[in-house]
Amino acid sequence: MKAKITLAKEFRIGEIDKRIYGSFIEHLGRAVYGGIYEPGHPTADENGFRQDVIDLVKKLNVPVVRYPGGNFVSGYNWEDGVGPVDKRPKKLDLAWGTTEPNLIGTNEFVKWCEKANAECMMAVNLGTRGPDEARNLVEYCNHKSGSYWSDLRRSHGYENPHNIKLWCLGNEMDGGWQMGAKNAVEYGRTALEASKMMKWTDGSIETVLCGSSSRYSGTFGEWEVQSLDIAYDSIDYVSLHQYYGNQEDDTPSFLAKTLGLDEFIYSVICACDYVKAKRRSKKTINLSFDEWNVWYHSNNRPFERWSVAPPLLEDIYNFEDALLVGSMLITLLRHCDRIKIACLAQLVNVIAPIFTKTGGGVFPQTTFFPFMHLSNYGRGSALLPLVDCPKYDCKKFTDVPYIETIATFDEENDEMTVFCVNKSLDESVVLDVNLMDFDGYKPVEFISMDGYGIKDENSLEAVTVKPHTNPVPEMDEGVLTAELKPFSWNVIRLKK
Ligand code: AHR
Repeated sequence: MKAKITLAKEFRIGEIDKRIYGSFIEHLGRAVYGGIYEPGHPTADENGFRQDVIDLVKKLNVPVVRYPGGNFVSGYNWEDGVGPVDKRPKKLDLAWGTTEPNLIGTNEFVKWCEKANAECMMAVNLGTRGPDEARNLVEYCNHKSGSYWSDLRRSHGYENPHNIKLWCLGNEMDGGWQMGAKNAVEYGRTALEASKMMKWTDGSIETVLCGSSSRYSGTFGEWEVQSLDIAYDSIDYVSLHQYYGNQEDDTPSFLAKTLGLDEFIYSVICACDYVKAKRRSKKTINLSFDEWNVWYHSNNRPFERWSVAPPLLEDIYNFEDALLVGSMLITLLRHCDRIKIACLAQLVNVIAPIFTKTGGGVFPQTTFFPFMHLSNYGRGSALLPLVDCPKYDCKKFTDVPYIETIATFDEENDEMTVFCVNKSLDESVVLDVNLMDFDGYKPVEFISMDGYGIKDENSLEAVTVKPHTNPVPEMDEGVLTAELKPFSWNVIRLKK
């Protein structure tokens, strides 16, 4: 089949905030223990951080990592995770039914972020705790010295403040599974007071209000409007969370889920702007899509209750998951004028692109590669391509474009990249890219992932699902033509 996209500098959606390529580490399963931290591992550094994991994280070029949860944070006492390690208590984590040894806490995680070239996005507990403990944590992390909490940090060996800029006001507070879950008014009030006091402690921070835990949560819509209306003046972003799965084993419907994602994003923007209009406010609330991914393979696996770091949520991803992850991130980029932060949930072992064996090796999952390409080449501004392509109908959606695409334009470095998923199971797409006013831009590299079985996976033994390069596409009178193989991930890089 044939498709055509047209690109022009005027089709600029907005500047891409690099934090859209963020990720997430929760105290959950083997994300921390056996993931980023494993003293005694052959690659561990002096802090016990696995260097083989850091090397892969660096390839993903992740600028910000959310921490320490997730559901975990709603029962977490941050004070348990600072100070001498041998004095830290072991606590039951009611979110996941495990035991938290508190060997890693705030200071160690900030240190890990420095090693991984990332910033920490910190979540505070607004479930079992409240604004007071939240503002104390800001003081502990960000105040220079001369106060109880800042001097406590210094006494723990961290003379300089961590200067953490981004703070999540709790996690999924609408969900019954959350410790200390709240209704929208209770949450809005708590979040407002927490944000206010946290910003009085450090006026340079930004805060994220919890939106609904997903588009399918019963309170979705009303929750956003009510809690935003209460906390509007103090907060900067509202969060979105969404996971998808292919439980029905229906690949065309699975890959079409980005249509639902697009509607979800649009409706949260509408909720923000409705509250803005109602309040006659000049302030615009942007979006933090701080949990998104494919998650379903590992559901309902048994584990030993109250054990430390059991293998929880260890999805092994296949090729179709990689295409959905690429398509999801393309969809987020199409809204980069409003989505400033996004976190692939999560980063290591727990529904993650990086998978380790405790005491053994590490490998990139199939989903690692589309994320890596977008994060490394998708910088600058995003351009909304005019797309003319055939569409399909499936059980869940109608009129699904066979190709999912976005272009990014890095004017500073004279680079442009077109990202494209071909969702057809059996047909190639001959794609014409009309470059209009991009005079002098020529294709320099064509990377793709194709030719794999839908359910093919990587493992410690073999990373078979991975990208390869193709001959550079032809250009004729400003139109580039490339063949997108059936069921493929494609990256076409151009330079001036
Ligand atoms: O990322 C796994 C879990 O998904 C998080 O703890 C929670 O916020 C969400 O429900």
